[in-house]
Amino acid sequence: MSPHAHTPQSPWRAACAGPLKGTVRVPGDKSMSHRALILGALAVGRTQVHGLLESDDVLATAGAVNALGARATDCGGGHWTVDGVGIGALAEPTGALDFGNSGTGCRLMMGVVAGHPIAATFIGDASLSRRPMRRITTPLALMGATFAGPAAGTLPLTLTGARPPLPITYTLPVASAQVKSAVLLAGLSAPGQTTVLEPVRTRDHTENMLRAFGCHVSVEEGPHGIHAVHVTGECELTPAAISVPADPSSAAFPLVAALLVEGSDVVATDVMINPLRAGLFTTLQEMGADITFENEREEGGERVADIRARHSALTGIDVPPERAASMIDEYPVLAVAAAFAQGKTTMRGLEELRVKESDRISATVAMLQACGAQVRELEDGMIVTGAGGVIAGGGHVATGMDHRIAMSGLVAGLAAKSAVSIDDATMIATSFPAFRDLMTGLGAQIAPANG
Ligand code: S3P
Repeated sequence: MSPHAHTPQSPWRAACAGPLKGTVRVPGDKSMSHRALILGALAVGRTQVHGLLESDDVLATAGAVNALGARATDCGGGHWTVDGVGIGALAEPTGALDFGNSGTGCRLMMGVVAGHPIAATFIGDASLSRRPMRRITTPLALMGATFAGPAAGTLPLTLTGARPPLPITYTLPVASAQVKSAVLLAGLSAPGQTTVLEPVRTRDHTENMLRAFGCHVSVEEGPHGIHAVHVTGECELTPAAISVPADPSSAAFPLVAALLVEGSDVVATDVMINPLRAGLFTTLQEMGADITFENEREEGGERVADIRARHSALTGIDVPPERAASMIDEYPVLAVAAAFAQGKTTMRGLEELRVKESDRISATVAMLQACGAQVRELEDGMIVTGAGGVIAGGGHVATGMDHRIAMSGLVAGLAAKSAVSIDDATMIATSFPAFRDLMTGLGAQIAPANG
């Protein structure tokens, strides 16, 4: 039986309790945290990581790093060391690698294992076990890896790595940084150049961090805006010191809450604002949000800023579909903001949302409906007709094992007329374990619903 089968549910409730005020530092970026552990394992020697996100998803990746013979050590206070063994030198794990709820950890590590002459079985919770893996197994099979598992192309999967992988040129069929990263990570073991062609640009943390570990990665723009990312394999990664800035996808929750709750004024410090991640903030500004970037600077190879959000009257817009990749995880909370705006907000080009931790289009639509908002589901998105002010709330949100639906539902409850409850807050720990403490520190009222 799956180790995740009997986790008890933990219902929570959020209610309006006056303005949110204060300065917060949300935890480290999840994408960068996974990558720091993984590249640290592939370097020769000791990598230092500061500000690692210590959430369930990232801890699953740390567990996998250790199971593969490298050593990730918690030194306290978000400081970790990773003793890497070098590309090609990871060991076959004795048990299955359990990635819990984490698609990123699982898919990136599949790329790593594909580049090693070892076999490993990948498992996850009920949500991860439903998510498509063919997008990963197809390119990795072209590189020489083999797979055994359900015909549906889902977990559990046993991957046997290539000896050695073939360098390939692969055009991404979906805009996915996870797929791009898996191919690049497998390519580190390949003799020659591996190329990923991206018709739509996705987050580039793997590329940036590979450079910080001394690996040559080049990116060039070709015809029709297609970007080619090249990595030359059989390089040696040198240990790095990585400082992980605050996660913009987590900062989104207190910042959107501040926009919606009257009288609020919140600053989120040290937030990574890589343009391939910052689409939500641009969109909110276009909707009339009072969001300002202060103290912009470069830290650890990424742009960061302190972001200030003050309560604002929002107006609905058509969100450009080509912006989707730069805010793919932020649509649930954007939909909540849209429900309070004046007029219609159209969000399209979001097919990928159907294969996230939940079907995020259906889950977001159901969440808004439970809160009394007007929304129409489309195959590739949704149209929210805003209330031009406060929505009714009062609903009960089914989170579907999805942390971002859980936190978005609670944000709606903070600003709605009546409290909103969610069926299960457990998954919030996958990305933002301190969510409740941090929000209540700003003045929010969020508590266990049966407590
Ligand atoms: C991530 C990529 C995105 C995103 C996920 C993190 C990453 O997924 O939704 O939360 O760190 O590479 P896709 O690659 O499936 O778009």
